[in-house]
Amino acid sequence: MVHRRKFIQASVGGTLGIILGKIAAGNQAPAVLKGQPVVISTWDAGMEANKAAWEILSKGGRALDAVEKGVMVTEASQNCCVGLGANPDRDGFVTLDACIMDEFSNCGSVAFLERIKHPVSVARRVMEKTPHVMLVGAGAQQFALAEGFPLEEQKLSPEAAGAYQEWLLKSEYKPPLINVENKGHGPFAPARLSNGEWNHDTIGMVAMDTKGNLSGSCTTSGAGFKMRGRVGDSPIIGAGLFVDNEAGACTATGQGEDVIRVAGSHSVVELMRQGLSPEAACKKIIERIVKIKKEKAKNIQVAFLALNKKGIPGAYAIHPGFRYAIRSGKKEMLVNAGSYFKE
Ligand code: GLY
Repeated sequence: MVHRRKFIQASVGGTLGIILGKIAAGNQAPAVLKGQPVVISTWDAGMEANKAAWEILSKGGRALDAVEKGVMVTEASQNCCVGLGANPDRDGFVTLDACIMDEFSNCGSVAFLERIKHPVSVARRVMEKTPHVMLVGAGAQQFALAEGFPLEEQKLSPEAAGAYQEWLLKSEYKPPLINVENKGHGPFAPARLSNGEWNHDTIGMVAMDTKGNLSGSCTTSGAGFKMRGRVGDSPIIGAGLFVDNEAGACTATGQGEDVIRVAGSHSVVELMRQGLSPEAACKKIIERIVKIKKEKAKNIQVAFLALNKKGIPGAYAIHPGFRYAIRSGKKEMLVNAGSYFKE
């Protein structure tokens, strides 16, 4: 069984909702200082990832370097849903998806990549060293090895190994139903845990540097116990991530199939281009998904996280429980996103 860290609920509706040591989660992002860099990323793991990104941004470095180094921290951790220790597919293999995009609309992506520790860095090499945007499967691995990335042994984290054993006991190998009841481990990420919380999945990160340039990255092991070969939104430019240096940047987390069908991150960025705030833009695309999914929306979680050209962040989810990490100036905190369903 995969568990999220336990947090203590302190107050609702105030600035501080949750306190854990020095980390606070509030319902409002801190004010962003003009001309100052900022980095935001999905879920609680974003706090550690942001630290690494901040090392680069605070020294005047490029947002592209920050978003790569930032999510590498999560890829290297024994996380349920990112990196080589994460939940495997139905056949027991961890398959990884990642992408990256810079301020010039350069982008690179890898999908269905096995036994490589840092898919985001392979995605960057695809962007910088090939005429292509996306490499998948054996071809992506072949490219990674040619670029000097070591072939790692797959080593499931104890949590992922336990979750897989549990899934094997109960589940049949058959195509997943779309209207799945998530009883701990549905075929789609993120699953609703037995305590009612949503299990996090992907890390998506977007950042603005001191020059005001935007970049983003996104990396995941995808849905736990997915069908072999399944690829979600995370490596799809325009779905799991989109950056437009004039309009803003957005990343997504949650059930990738439903992010793809609305070209989620691209749609959010286009709404910001039309003048919507990041939160309003994320909300509109969440509402679009809920309208499409009808009753089924109750069983899925999707969240968008966006940053506009002024460095203002915003987010919105289908269900409560999604939060993002922000680092700006001296502030670092978790922020609770608004949601379509209130409980
Ligand atoms: N958002 C991650 C996935 O669906 O693969």
